[in-house]
Amino acid sequence: MCGIIGYTGYRQAAEVLIEALRRLEYRGYDSAGVAILSPSLKIHKKKGELHQLQSSLPHIDGRVGVGHTRWATCGKPSNENAHPFLDCSGKIALVHNGIIENYMALKEGLQEEGHKFSSQTDTEVIVHLIEKFYQGDLHEAVKSALKEIKGTYAIAAVVQGSDEIVAARKENPLVIGVGVNENFVASDVTALLSYTNKVRHVMDGETVLVRPEGVRVFDSEGREVHREDTIITWSAEDAQKGGFPHFMLKEIFEEPQAIHNSLLGTLDIIENGEIVPNVQFSSIKIIACGSSYHAAMVGKYILEELGKIPVTLELASEYRYSPGAKEFPLVILISQSGETADTLAAAREARRRGCRTMGITNVIGSTLTREVDEVVYTRAGPEIGVAATKTFLTQLIALYIISIRIGFARRVLSHDAMWKALSELRKMPGVVQAVLDNAAEVEKTVELLVPARDIFFIGRNVNYPTMLEGALKLKEISYIHAEGFAAGELKHGPLALLDATTPVIAVAMRTDHTYEKMLANISEVAARESPVLSIGCDGDRELAAVSVNMIKVPCVSPLFSPIPVTVVLQLIAYYTAQKKGRSIDKPKNLAKSVTVE
Ligand code: G6P
Repeated sequence: MCGIIGYTGYRQAAEVLIEALRRLEYRGYDSAGVAILSPSLKIHKKKGELHQLQSSLPHIDGRVGVGHTRWATCGKPSNENAHPFLDCSGKIALVHNGIIENYMALKEGLQEEGHKFSSQTDTEVIVHLIEKFYQGDLHEAVKSALKEIKGTYAIAAVVQGSDEIVAARKENPLVIGVGVNENFVASDVTALLSYTNKVRHVMDGETVLVRPEGVRVFDSEGREVHREDTIITWSAEDAQKGGFPHFMLKEIFEEPQAIHNSLLGTLDIIENGEIVPNVQFSSIKIIACGSSYHAAMVGKYILEELGKIPVTLELASEYRYSPGAKEFPLVILISQSGETADTLAAAREARRRGCRTMGITNVIGSTLTREVDEVVYTRAGPEIGVAATKTFLTQLIALYIISIRIGFARRVLSHDAMWKALSELRKMPGVVQAVLDNAAEVEKTVELLVPARDIFFIGRNVNYPTMLEGALKLKEISYIHAEGFAAGELKHGPLALLDATTPVIAVAMRTDHTYEKMLANISEVAARESPVLSIGCDGDRELAAVSVNMIKVPCVSPLFSPIPVTVVLQLIAYYTAQKKGRSIDKPKNLAKSVTVE
């Protein structure tokens, strides 16, 4: 996720671009840059937050330009990898939000044709492709370049000698801002609200020509389309949250897109990942903290099932001080921020003990990426809410991909089984969307939870850790005491705590081999008069009959059920905290990233 902006009109472009980037900084802050026609193309870009660019920006007189604020997905945060990018002639500039999957092959071809590259990004291939096709018409050149590209994008490009901006989108947001004798393109309306509240939406596959006197939109066949203006009534802050009351809810609703991005290039990881072919190991250890540790716990089930390899788990804060038996597992460290002090120390300790290490993180260039032998990125985009939501879900996606890769490389997963698992994974954006479409029903069910002092979460098998995560999510943002248990453990103690005032949230997926056992556990709970809120397969009447309320999810194959179940649990935590009037995005005493031990 990055922020892009383009301006053409009568104002000083530099001022407009910087103001818009300030509004877009929540979309990424690894670097920022602008390119302005003055009248030759002047470009300034800087690693770090926007103020670093702003404080070093000289006066540039110009009325047309593009700008970018970066969330790194390909190439570490640096001045060279900052956008905009120029073609070889220095006359075309481009900004991009998205991921170009086939950039390596394109780059090799372009280099053979003599194009010179200055960065490690995927984006730079687009501007060289545009250069290749440019014969005096930027729009035509952009259209030809986009035909070569596999992946997702929102782009804006300018060429020296013209006051026109050419923009396009595929699976990344882009909106046109409509002014008088000036027009804009941007990643979202936030960037535009200081100048106009009149916007025109751009659809997937469309290209746009933006000039000071007007805007034209074209479909993927090149036919001009008519698009009505929409008047935006949000404040800038509302707009940053995309109209959602909190970042957490916005981030939950971004999960289908986040999963989709995590899945881009999956086959490449499975076929060309480094560790498996190079290194022999007979077990895996996963190390993490907080929600990432719960992802690790789910990962144990997935890896043992798909990779047929034994997995042990360690909390990062414990591993560091553990005796360290003489074993050499592959050590996987999971950290959404890549900066958690305990996890970093564990990564160093694992290497000191002679183990190969792999990091799973959401942040390119984070410290963890420098401490491990191989990195898998989750590509969830920036997460502002302290409670991990889309980053947790995409950690699970990364673990499915790694498990398939390990299973395939160890020849314990047949070709057919690999494709079956991959096709299940590819269903996940749609599955999550189906859960989100039912959010209003989830919201109704939390009335039961709001007055409670204690709430228990129970599950079995792969959904035991899912329920631990559900309990953590609820306690961290609602401040209600919540505990997760393996359902089979209730009888060994927690049952003593149950009564009519203690709601129990239970998951029982009809497709899972522990389903009957879960039904029995739920009946035990109901016998103590605890109200049961259950999560189960759409159409499961048996489960509904033993529950006060049942939330239905699509009936996916059991190993993949933590994905939809987690989304329900996140919504439960969110709506409960909202009804209690809590500070959802910044819960008390907690921080997004804990850099102390
Ligand atoms: C903090 C956050 C949690 C997160 C944990 C580990 O406690 O509040 O949401 O799960 O750190 O963070 P990491 O960045 O290493 O995944």
